[in-house]
Amino acid sequence: MDLHALEKELLTHPLETPEDLRAFRKTFLEKGGKLEAYFAHLRNLPPETRKDIGKKLNTLRDLAQERIAQAQTVLEGNANQTQEATIDPSFPQWVFEPGGRHPLSLVEGKVIQIFQRLGYSLADGPEVEDDWHNFGALNFEPDHPARDMQDTFFVRPEEGILLRTHTSTVQIRVMERNKPPIRILAPGRVYRHETISARAHVYFHQIEGLCVDKDISAAELKATLEYFIHSFFGETVQIRWRASYFPFTEMSAEVDISCLLCQGAGCSVCKHSGWVEVLGCGIVDPNVLAACGIDPEKYTGFAFGLGVERLTQLLYNIPDLRFFGQNDLKFLNAFRGYGYTF
Ligand code: PHE
Repeated sequence: MDLHALEKELLTHPLETPEDLRAFRKTFLEKGGKLEAYFAHLRNLPPETRKDIGKKLNTLRDLAQERIAQAQTVLEGNANQTQEATIDPSFPQWVFEPGGRHPLSLVEGKVIQIFQRLGYSLADGPEVEDDWHNFGALNFEPDHPARDMQDTFFVRPEEGILLRTHTSTVQIRVMERNKPPIRILAPGRVYRHETISARAHVYFHQIEGLCVDKDISAAELKATLEYFIHSFFGETVQIRWRASYFPFTEMSAEVDISCLLCQGAGCSVCKHSGWVEVLGCGIVDPNVLAACGIDPEKYTGFAFGLGVERLTQLLYNIPDLRFFGQNDLKFLNAFRGYGYTF
């Protein structure tokens, strides 16, 4: 038993690479290694020397374990360093592509810009509404079909809590809290119980307008909306006024423009008529003013509701409503870099 030779061997065994470490463990520490053989040999020694040699062997085993632990630490450090060293500073840098606005936001911004020039400010209201703001105050009859579950999403039907079906709710909220003169624009999401298709969706966006003051007439309504349409679509677009009905306006009208997708030739968006409806409007019904605490003898007003999806489809030639909600990057990327100024 040459313990000196063993010690020397232990101290000189190379420990630079993972292979060296494996060989070291195999040679000295593992089952069948030299240390095991030496310990086994203890049995054959006379008891006087056995204790001494045993102690020395323990020390050598500790030494072996210490060496390998140290070598391990050094190796791991080297591994980290090599990883750092593989970063190639000449590699082209990441390109962070700027995000883009959703086309509906672009159009909303454009509409707001136009009406701001006419002195309109912004108003807002909740999407979860009550029967009063969505229907009651807007002069809907108690048995109006829109109040049916078939047309409206109810959150709590017993209490009349629903998802607003139009932004006209904001007319009520603004008039309840403000005295005329009022000139507001209220953009927002609305919900209807529809089957989703190219032409209909369960949610879409409207921009409500409300103007209440002394001596507001239908002439001002017409001039305002024609100014808007020409600013938005250009001077050449044709405008068609149609008599209509809404419970909360008396006189009521709808406005169509010549279809920009097919230039009047007929397509699926204009249902082959050459015209597309872009808004509903009218003179605010005196009952609605009164329901909000505004004296209908003193004040008159007009209101309108624009369909944002419709405006966007016409402005950007989008044939199917479903594109707006799918978050398909192939679609959205087409609008990257567009700003609010057109
Ligand atoms: N709220 C009506 C709708 O959703 C649009 C409208 C708004 C009509 C304001 C007249 C006045 O269809």
